[in-house]
Amino acid sequence: MSDPTATAVACANIAFIKYWGNQNDALRIPANSSLSMNLDGLVTRTTVTFRPGLSADRLEINGRLAEPPALARVSGFLDLVRALAGVHLFAEVASENNFPTGAGIASSASAFAALALAAARALGLELTEPELSRLARRGSGSACRSIPAGFVEWNAGSTDQDSFARSIAPPEHWDLVDCIAVVAAGQKAVGSTEGHALAGTSPLQAARLADAPRRLEAAHRALLERDFPSLARVVEQDSTIMHAVMMTSDPPLYYWSPPSLEIMKAVQTWRSQGLPCCFTLDAGPNVHVICPAGVSAEVAARLSAMPGVEQVLQAHPGGPARLVSG
Ligand code: PMV
Repeated sequence: MSDPTATAVACANIAFIKYWGNQNDALRIPANSSLSMNLDGLVTRTTVTFRPGLSADRLEINGRLAEPPALARVSGFLDLVRALAGVHLFAEVASENNFPTGAGIASSASAFAALALAAARALGLELTEPELSRLARRGSGSACRSIPAGFVEWNAGSTDQDSFARSIAPPEHWDLVDCIAVVAAGQKAVGSTEGHALAGTSPLQAARLADAPRRLEAAHRALLERDFPSLARVVEQDSTIMHAVMMTSDPPLYYWSPPSLEIMKAVQTWRSQGLPCCFTLDAGPNVHVICPAGVSAEVAARLSAMPGVEQVLQAHPGGPARLVSG
């Protein structure tokens, strides 16, 4: 019999309402619910093969053997899948991101969503979408949002059982585009796992969390009603309130660079002049500018002309994580 193997593909996602801070760091149960859009065409493709001959897990990312910390994180995740399946074999994992490496596009969401699906399938686990989303969450919180299709809400819950994401609208619901302005990254940013653990040290995190249900509700409603002006206001506010927490944590985390701020200000000016667009930033200096598809060429052209912008990627709403073989 051949070794158990499967290949899966999953999209990255951009949060309109952010996840920052955990109720439980080990289980990645978030402090607040979040809402995101899958990014079509920005994908990780992962093949997992469990081999009887191996004495440890092996991980290749974009054709190169991964560094020990990345391997340890993936091995720890595979332990969860092995425990679920009652299997003790080590695995060979080969993962490819199709988005430019070094562009500072977070890959942990697409990576752990694809890994969860491929590993579970290779070991013959028949998981429902919520079960897969819960599993992916254990690798990287935001990965649970890359399992379902389109526009996705992750209900924070309070236990491993009730913390998972579900689709609130399919990709066809609204043709929004994420125009990602990739700006030169300075020194390597503090990763999100470490960042989540610092969120509670900011005196602003309590205020951010107290108002999170209102922002989620506003974004959810604006999305379902395709109300761009309302969506724009709450998306920008939610991003900036998260960065206020980051900048006031101990130690402080400054992810914005000077070009990031120039782009944020330009986006607000363009919107006030009638161009529908809004910004949101994750744990890095790149600016994600969300706009309706009809104006994305104009937005991308303007972003490309801004100082410090190295390239602009564009992504429409994406589908669910899917098996390619296995
Ligand atoms: O899934 P993580 O641990 O990489 O956290 C993601 C954190 C943000 O990208 C900053 C926000 C989000 O909700 O995606």
